[in-house]
Amino acid sequence: MRKKIVAGNWKMNTVISEGENLVNGILKRMNEVKNATVIVAPPFTHLYLVAQLLKGSTIRLSSQNCAAEDSGAYTGGVSAKMLISVGAQYCIIGHSECREYYGETDEILYVKLQQALKNNLIPIFCVGEVLAEREANRHFNVVRVQLENTLYRLNDIDFEKIIIAYEPVWAIGTGKTASPEQAQEMHAFIRQTLSKKFGAKADNTSILYGGSVKPSNAKEIFAKPDVNGGLIGGASLVADDFIAIATAF
Ligand code: 13P
Repeated sequence: MRKKIVAGNWKMNTVISEGENLVNGILKRMNEVKNATVIVAPPFTHLYLVAQLLKGSTIRLSSQNCAAEDSGAYTGGVSAKMLISVGAQYCIIGHSECREYYGETDEILYVKLQQALKNNLIPIFCVGEVLAEREANRHFNVVRVQLENTLYRLNDIDFEKIIIAYEPVWAIGTGKTASPEQAQEMHAFIRQTLSKKFGAKADNTSILYGGSVKPSNAKEIFAKPDVNGGLIGGASLVADDFIAIATAF
């Protein structure tokens, strides 16, 4: 089923006490959220505590990344198995910040997808073009290649587990949102590209939009037929804003 999902990517924000307050603020208003699955993705250091706070609620827990390796001498690495062991259920993979700052290539991301899937972590897989690529009218091509290099290599069973996030890099943290029409156009393109490989299964994939989603623009973006929710950065750090977005369907 194509589920409606609102996920909060906290990025490298909050110390543990702030994270605890944020989760409690979201929990307090969760009864208002009727139509969406809510996911929070705090930093690694917060996952265990947040998992305890979320017990008995419907909020799901995600990490922001995972290692490409199983275990061993990879200083600083956090494996998919470790993440499952502290209560994470989802894992963001391929965020543009990780692609850019940590040199994560499509090849590495494909291995990370396999690591997550093998350990029963559900990937939230990010794709998106940078500004120069959109200006050169190459955005569809760029996203198609990102999909072909990664998700196209999964089997049907694994593909059905994936959540996709389209995040145009030029809209992340810039206050510049893609218009609802630009989002719909790319989401429909992503679905069509995936249907070439996975057929009707692509109809069921949730494709989230990310990039400067706020309470004031969430409703019109989420109203588009191929936009099945959002991956929220800045606005997910304020409980009331995050709830306003999660109720914008
Ligand atoms: P902003 O909502 O802060 O633009 O961030 C979007 C994002 O990168 C979510 O993963």
